Amino acid sequence: MSRIAYVNGAYLPHAGAGVHVEDRGYQFADGVYEVCEVRGGHMVDQRRHMERLVRSLNEIRIRLPMPLAALGVVLRETIRRNRVRDGLVYLQVTRGVARRDHYFPDPATPPSIVVTARALDPAKGEAQAAQGIAVITVPENRWERVDIKTIGLLPNVLAKEAAKQAGAREAWFVDAAGNITEGGSTNAWIVTDDGRLVTRPAESGILRGITRTVMLEVAETLQLRVDERPFTVEEAKAAREAFVTSATNFATPVVRIDGHPVGDGRPGPVARALRENYHGRAEIGH
Ligand code: PDD
Repeated sequence: MSRIAYVNGAYLPHAGAGVHVEDRGYQFADGVYEVCEVRGGHMVDQRRHMERLVRSLNEIRIRLPMPLAALGVVLRETIRRNRVRDGLVYLQVTRGVARRDHYFPDPATPPSIVVTARALDPAKGEAQAAQGIAVITVPENRWERVDIKTIGLLPNVLAKEAAKQAGAREAWFVDAAGNITEGGSTNAWIVTDDGRLVTRPAESGILRGITRTVMLEVAETLQLRVDERPFTVEEAKAAREAFVTSATNFATPVVRIDGHPVGDGRPGPVARALRENYHGRAEIGH
């Protein structure tokens, strides 16, 4: 089946779909994005993802290119045209096409919008969760505004590639104080020896992951004790469990940090319980 991409008002064959060479996303990474899980053909936590999109756009002063209701139609139509049952939908909005110049273009310049969708094999994610993943740590080298979901992801790309070269799946950024901030494309969590769930507060240093927010609710339902506080690499290595969260990973156990086994080196019960209960708590569209 041939894939379809939505680009600035048209549904186009994915293979040839593109934006102009002077799109500010292409030239300056001047844009923001969202990734939403698709499950059984429906978007997971669409409302929260759209709220975060609006926030990201406001922070960098790009206007929403169409009302949220219309955007919802485009997202659903892109999922439908690509016949995605389980997978993801990707949405990107940039400051539009204009002659290359760092200053904002004429305010009348329409933002560019691209939507793609693709299937993911749920069995692969489950196999990965059953096995657990390895992470490496890398120095934090991103700008301060990582709360904005910008398409400027070069540090994340380099960090994740370094992880891959080291035989790991994710890279955890470590700030100047020695605390883990988050992963290249996931939020980071640990379970301490006394069974407390720890994740960094979202006020600074990390993206406020939607999955993170939902997992905090799941944790409450499961009556887990949660501390939103920074934690160090040493603490993570000594933790009983560690795991990552994101829209496409849900909760995925971390079993090695810089080659050092976490707990007994196998996925633990807390990450499993959170993963199993996640979709019961998330908002799934119909
Ligand atoms: N990544 N932190 C970073 C840096 C991320 O890029 C992401 C998401 C998260 C988790 O956010 P959420 O739970 O809302 O997915 C945290 C997406 C999936 C990506 O870039 O592909």
